Amino acid sequence: MTCNTVMFANAKGGAGKSTLAFLSAIHFAATYDLRVCVIDFDRLRTTYNAVRRFAGSGVQSYYLADEHGEGHRVAPDAVRASLQTRRAASDVLFVDTPAGFPADTMVPAIQPDAIFVPVSVSDADIMATKAYLPELEEAAARVAETTGVRPRIMLVPNQVFAEDQALRIRDAFRGHAVRIAPALAFSRALREVFHFEPGDTNIASVYLEDGGFFKWMSADIFALRQMQLRQG
Ligand SMILES: Nc1ncnc2c1ncn2[C@@H]1O[C@H](COP(=O)(O)OP(=O)(O)OP(=O)(O)O)[C@@H](O)[C@H]1O
Ligand SMILES: [Mg+2]
Repeated sequence: MTCNTVMFANAKGGAGKSTLAFLSAIHFAATYDLRVCVIDFDRLRTTYNAVRRFAGSGVQSYYLADEHGEGHRVAPDAVRASLQTRRAASDVLFVDTPAGFPADTMVPAIQPDAIFVPVSVSDADIMATKAYLPELEEAAARVAETTGVRPRIMLVPNQVFAEDQALRIRDAFRGHAVRIAPALAFSRALREVFHFEPGDTNIASVYLEDGGFFKWMSADIFALRQMQLRQG
């Protein structure tokens, strides 16, 4: 049974990794009849706690850490072993990683099929992401050496509030071996998804407001899965 892994990464803090990991995992689980498991490496456990509320719908949630409870310090071999166990019981893993997570050791341990890199459209975020990308590309190349398949890197313009901002991202990353996803707009509803609201009305309103984006995310991940199933 194939299990696909999508990872959310950016060395820059606050780019939208957890927001995207959480909302795309829940959307994907609600759209496709597949076993979804979310893995959080961030000691704050924001994503882990948010996803736990959806345990009733069958979405699994794990926090992965070393013996001191530090998610970003867990040894690569422990990551490999733990993910192998999760893969045996899941169809798609959504992996949220914290800022400063070392790509060189962790990407080869996680062996993602796709890496989503949210980038907020500000000079500081664009510059930080440009500096981080070669590290990620090198790590992806190392995965390809072992698995034969290079993880796909997809930039996600985030917190976009004008049409030309998505174009700025396109310009800034010309020449890199990355794809660019549709942009996720800046929205107040997106700032309010991590607290509990009866009936999860806060999350429902995001899917109503930014539904196109999350439908695209789910369909993209599903298409990746179909392609890999066909390739055997
Ligand atoms: N499109 C958006 N519109 C408005 N606010 C957003 C959007 N995306 C993310 N945010 C907000 O930006 C903040 C940072 O997002 P998030 O926690 O997802 O980033 P992160 O990359 O996981 O950060 P960290 O590196 O600390 O783990 C949060 O307050 C979140 O609600
Ligand atoms: Mg986060």
